[in-house]
Amino acid sequence: MASKLLATKPIDAILAEAAETHEHSLKRALGPINLVTLGIGAIIGAGIFVLTGTAAAQFAGPAIVISYIIAGAGCVFAGLCYAEFASMLPIAGSAYTYGYATMGELVAWIIGWALVLEYAFGAATVAVGWSGFVSSLIGFFGAKLPFNPTPAIIIPVFGHTLHAQVDIFALSALVVITIILVVGVRESANFNSGAVMIKVSVVLIFIGLAAAYAFGHWHRMQVNWHPFIPKNTGHFGQFGWSGIMRGAGVVFFAYIGFDAVSTAAQEARNPQKDMPFGILGSLIVCTVLYIFVAGLLTGVKSYTSLNVPAPVAEGAAAIGVRWGVLLIDLGAIAGLASVMLVMLLGQSRVLYTMSRDGLLWGWVGKLHPRFRTPYITSIVVGLFAAFLAAFFPITLLGELVSLGTLLAFTIVCLGVWVLRVRHPGVHRPFRTPWVPVVPICGMIVSVALMLSLDAPAWIGFGAWLIVGQIIYFTYSRKHSTVQRTLAAGASQEQNAQVRR
Ligand code: ALA
Repeated sequence: MASKLLATKPIDAILAEAAETHEHSLKRALGPINLVTLGIGAIIGAGIFVLTGTAAAQFAGPAIVISYIIAGAGCVFAGLCYAEFASMLPIAGSAYTYGYATMGELVAWIIGWALVLEYAFGAATVAVGWSGFVSSLIGFFGAKLPFNPTPAIIIPVFGHTLHAQVDIFALSALVVITIILVVGVRESANFNSGAVMIKVSVVLIFIGLAAAYAFGHWHRMQVNWHPFIPKNTGHFGQFGWSGIMRGAGVVFFAYIGFDAVSTAAQEARNPQKDMPFGILGSLIVCTVLYIFVAGLLTGVKSYTSLNVPAPVAEGAAAIGVRWGVLLIDLGAIAGLASVMLVMLLGQSRVLYTMSRDGLLWGWVGKLHPRFRTPYITSIVVGLFAAFLAAFFPITLLGELVSLGTLLAFTIVCLGVWVLRVRHPGVHRPFRTPWVPVVPICGMIVSVALMLSLDAPAWIGFGAWLIVGQIIYFTYSRKHSTVQRTLAAGASQEQNAQVRR
């Protein structure tokens, strides 16, 4: 039994699947630039526009820059491991398939299930944030809505009542994005490229304006940056080095998404070469932008006044840009839309692969005959994200996203090391440098960041994993293609023995 749970998917079978190109396979339409923009699309979002200010104000002060460097370094370790896997096994299942090839079916299932936390829960979290920026934009123009955008509803369930706040903007965003995803991967990539262009321009405009201001007001910048690491208040995580670490745990959210590039591996034209470029390229671009924004924001405005819903807009206002709010709202609206798109794209591709492996129902992996996208899954996931956005608080959702992502990172880092030992001869178009040092560093940073998260998130995480185990043991194990192949092999062996 235990050996069956640890059954791995043969690398040859994964490579054969990755090489499929027919009308029932995903469409290879993405080039290297599409992949970098897909990564930037998933990365830059609520994190930089909101968490930079709030984390500086509450935990790290101007040293939030160091928090960004620490979280970015952790992601680069994991990113290098993702790059090796994605170029070696270019398949839509991402971390789920890497786990299947290295640590067996049960671990693979757990990662696949944890990735739902990253992608579907991630899209829900970002949808709520997106709605906030739309309301702010409407408020900027002084317009009044003729309806309440967040009506409360009460749903009777088995004699109890569930209270929910239906966020109409969040819901509409998820519906529109789901339609784009169903229509095609090229259409999705084009939408994403437009959104990325807007948000990167907004971030660059902020950096340019703030840098110009810094040259003229150097003294003021120095005052705001002093002390760079505010003294710890006596409580763990409130300034000082423990605050920097706590800040790193919080701003880690800002980096989430680069791994979603690997879920597009089966839709990339040349995955062996372009996957590492997409994953690492998007991560490096965003890390540099984040460090500049964090440094300049805490320089133009004292960190003590940044615990507000739109801190970067406050920063723009502090340097005299009256249209700063408009600029940041536009950047965030475009930015968060592309985060939702790439997260939901990644989610449907992971579930598609799990279904093809027999671990989920057949309809999950069904492709649209014309668009060649997993349309039923895309629609169900979009609805599920809308449900989450309505029923769960955004802070809990955000921490669950981080936990699910960090678990996947830990297993991917471990997997690279395991596969180097077990299958040293497999062709690796990209090799993670300094194995096992880089994977070990990636695991240490990921586990440390997981431990910095709160108890309610851990309880939710535990509950989510239990639900996953129930599905695995009642459905997936019985329908798994790998298990069936093993069983068929075993009965052939038995027959041969009887004949002998
Ligand atoms: N990295 C994404 C964001 O910051 C999830 O919104």
